[in-house]
Amino acid sequence: MADHIHPIFDRLLTRDDYEQRLGQRGKVLWLTGLSGSGKSTLAIQLERKLFEAGFFSKVLDGDNIRTGINNNLGFSEAERMENIRRISEVARLFLDTGIICINAFISPKRAMRDMARSIVGPGDFIEIYVNATLDICESRDVKGLYQKARQGMIKGFTGIDDPYEPPFAPDLEIRTDLVELEDGVDQIFAYLRPLIALA
Ligand code: ADX
Repeated sequence: MADHIHPIFDRLLTRDDYEQRLGQRGKVLWLTGLSGSGKSTLAIQLERKLFEAGFFSKVLDGDNIRTGINNNLGFSEAERMENIRRISEVARLFLDTGIICINAFISPKRAMRDMARSIVGPGDFIEIYVNATLDICESRDVKGLYQKARQGMIKGFTGIDDPYEPPFAPDLEIRTDLVELEDGVDQIFAYLRPLIALA
């Protein structure tokens, strides 16, 4: 390294600087659950509710991640692991800027969520199990993918011929087959609010 090039890291603003400026604490919400369980819907509505209440958040889901940064990844175990690893690193960057990062990914294996938690840091990681029965998710079939999976046109579809491991001890569980969307959003917001308020 040339003498005149110095690392600039000690000059970067800190997370605390950002949190003070934004008037909030950063956190990472991790919504896990079957396809069609309602993760993205909850995430999007929560983002709006936070915004209206003056909080800054960012939603990461399949729509903006698997079409962009992770568009070279499929659904093998190793590729899902890599999907989650990259997402977790991105979430950490938002966290470092004091932003509430709302992640909505199936993340079907406990090992994947454990990796996410350790990349983000356990104290900032909030695991939310978005739970609806497979029957309900399949009957919703928003993208028609369950039908394709049943017909064998998609292999390794989570819940059909690839396992989903529910969290043992999520911070929150939202039963989207039992509660209205608005109530689910309210449950998350009520849990989150004290954690993102500045002391
Ligand atoms: S994860 O397993 O790597 O966390 P992710 O949440 O990014 O999955 O993407 C899931 C979405 O990809 C599903 O909602 C569905 O639309 C689509 N998809 C395509 N193939 C599969 C598959 N084999 N299993 C599950 N979802 C799939």
